[in-house]
Amino acid sequence: MRVLVTGHQGYLGTVMVGVLRAAGHDVVGLDAGYFADCVLGPTPMDPEQIRPGGPVDLRDITADDLTGVDAVVHLAALSNDPLGNLAPDVTYEINHRASTRLAHAAKAAGVSRFLYASTCSVYGSAGDDLVDEEAPLRPLTPYAESKVWVEDDLAAIADSGFAPVFLRNATAFGFSPRLRADIVLNNLVGHAVLTGVVKVLSDGTPWRPLVHAQDIAEAFLLCLTAPVKTIWCQAFNVGTEANNLTVAEIAQAVVEVVPATELRITGQTGADPRSYRVDFAKVRDRLGFQAQWSVAAGAAELYATYTNHHLTQDAFDDRFTRLARLKELRESGVLDETMYQGGRVG
Ligand SMILES: NC(=O)c1ccc[n+]([C@@H]2O[C@H](COP(=O)([O-])OP(=O)(O)OC[C@H]3O[C@@H](n4cnc5c(N)ncnc54)[C@H](O)[C@@H]3O)[C@@H](O)[C@H]2O)c1
Repeated sequence: MRVLVTGHQGYLGTVMVGVLRAAGHDVVGLDAGYFADCVLGPTPMDPEQIRPGGPVDLRDITADDLTGVDAVVHLAALSNDPLGNLAPDVTYEINHRASTRLAHAAKAAGVSRFLYASTCSVYGSAGDDLVDEEAPLRPLTPYAESKVWVEDDLAAIADSGFAPVFLRNATAFGFSPRLRADIVLNNLVGHAVLTGVVKVLSDGTPWRPLVHAQDIAEAFLLCLTAPVKTIWCQAFNVGTEANNLTVAEIAQAVVEVVPATELRITGQTGADPRSYRVDFAKVRDRLGFQAQWSVAAGAAELYATYTNHHLTQDAFDDRFTRLARLKELRESGVLDETMYQGGRVG
């Protein structure tokens, strides 16, 4: 199958490309390259961009670009809640409107499957009860709102020739050559390695569902080949109940893996109101998905790779932190205020 992976030079995209290629798919990419050189360890082998000649912005794509593509794995986005708050208008433009335009272009070009990277953040603050795919959506940020709206827009254009599917991923963790330091487990292991302290800036009680980047890629792979009727217009939470942990439990897992680390729970009111425990029965029962990675195994993997690749504090704070990296690209003029490269498009 010829598969377009948007955001292929991101944290998940870099892992996704490897998993899809290993399964025999012909992968082509589309990425504006915001984090293309934010690599820890050996440089990954990227696929060709869908348009030759350098970075490609999602906002420029037309149906002509998608000729011959069988399926789209749509990951490209300003990818997390704080980024969305940095530039809400740009988040709505890229994450919502450009994503919907991409789906229309894909449908017009005859693409039959559209796998959309949604998020469990759509559930917002849901308390202690497990939320399944039927639970009310309570997005708390422009980032999460955009995810809900794209799901709605995709459902509205689904038909017998165009099958969208919404993978509501838990918060990712684990090593990717294009590392992200701003997601909870990756962040806490980094602080432990670099400073000897794991600091939780809340009382540690909020629930976070976690899932390894590799497991997310496997769930997408299942959706590429499952019978159309199994995935058509369906939402799937992607993760495992075993990795529904409180922030304090995640921090404890880090302390148990990184030697001589002190745990500090500040007890203050956290800045992030999200808290939800997620039910993952549907993805297991309908797609046969089984997450392979526990949080403890992921913490051990991160500890080993950070140490082996000599992670530095500067790289952790700047190169691998989305917000800092995008601010730097804007301040240095590489991106304009709408996140276009060098004002390439007016
Ligand atoms: N990482 C997580 O914990 C997580 C959890 C749930 C859902 N998701 C979703 O999965 C997807 C990938 O997440 P990630 O962690 O790999 O994010 P990431 O920030 O590492 O990667 C996103 C990629 O999209 C590209 N991109 C952004 N705007 C673009 C544009 N206008 N044109 C072309 N490319 C553009 C960036 O250059 C980057 O390479 C996102 O849609 C995200 O919302 C991620």
